[in-house]
Amino acid sequence: MKRKIIAYNFVLREVLDPLKDDYEIEFFENINPQTAPAFIHSLKNAEGIIGLALPVDAELLDLAPKLKIVANNSTGYNNLSVDEMTKRGVMATNTPGVLEGTTADAIFGILLAAARRIPEMDQFVKTGQWQHYLTTEQFALDVHHKTLGIIGMGKIGSEIAKRGHLGFDMRILYHNRTRNIAAEEKFDATYCDLDTLLKESDFVVLMTPLTQETEHLMGEREFKLMKQSAIFVNGSRGKTVDEAALIEALKNKQIHGAALDVYQIEPINQDNPLLQFSNVVTTPHLGSATFETELKMAELARENLIAGLSGKRPPNLVNPEVLNY
Ligand code: DGY
Repeated sequence: MKRKIIAYNFVLREVLDPLKDDYEIEFFENINPQTAPAFIHSLKNAEGIIGLALPVDAELLDLAPKLKIVANNSTGYNNLSVDEMTKRGVMATNTPGVLEGTTADAIFGILLAAARRIPEMDQFVKTGQWQHYLTTEQFALDVHHKTLGIIGMGKIGSEIAKRGHLGFDMRILYHNRTRNIAAEEKFDATYCDLDTLLKESDFVVLMTPLTQETEHLMGEREFKLMKQSAIFVNGSRGKTVDEAALIEALKNKQIHGAALDVYQIEPINQDNPLLQFSNVVTTPHLGSATFETELKMAELARENLIAGLSGKRPPNLVNPEVLNY
């Protein structure tokens, strides 16, 4: 009998096709009341799961007694209860090293879009309102030579710093758990505490992973510290921000605007007040979503999955302590 794999939520099918000779693969695009019974049934025999953003917690693990590995098709793995997985001997993997440049392009893109009001101006042209020269109310903000504050100077943060420093002559401030000496040397980045970064930056870019420590890292106090002329950019996870506090900051004009790729609830609810602000640029968690990068991520997730199922150490194991269980 073939060993069973569950493919969850948008994994490029052609990447999994070569596995079909050896494995039985069941695809689930999402879990809803219609698909839940089949999914639960499938978990009983599943040895591997590959996919994006599936919450893997004690409850799910109870239903999957044969599970050996969850190969996340993303770099972030806040959807996995890693400790629970480790306790039960289940490997957790992610896909670092292939999406940093792509995600940095996207996040720098929304920063530019918010500063230069590109989506608004696009609508202005397409709806036939461009009948006169731009008025002062339509002017935007410069990006070049401004101060870029990056919270979370990991690989993606460093790529954003590179774009800001080398492409736009920006001064780079950063806040991180540990100093990033390479970024300091290459991009003239200055390490500082969070409050200093918030007070001095013209663009505050949040790129930190979501952990217990970073949940609601940006709240009422933090938005109040930002300059009124500053733009807040979130490319990390929605829950790193207290969304209600962000909405208040925008309402009260404590900040100039925002550019968001991630939200507390995804997909975002249409009645979310964030969608009402013309000075908020929104994109649908598209950081890594290019053909080239999604292919590399899926191939890496597959490599992790197959290694784990073959009793080898997956290249991107996030809970190596599991090997001692
Ligand atoms: C990642 O890889 O973490 C991206 O945000 C996609 O989820």
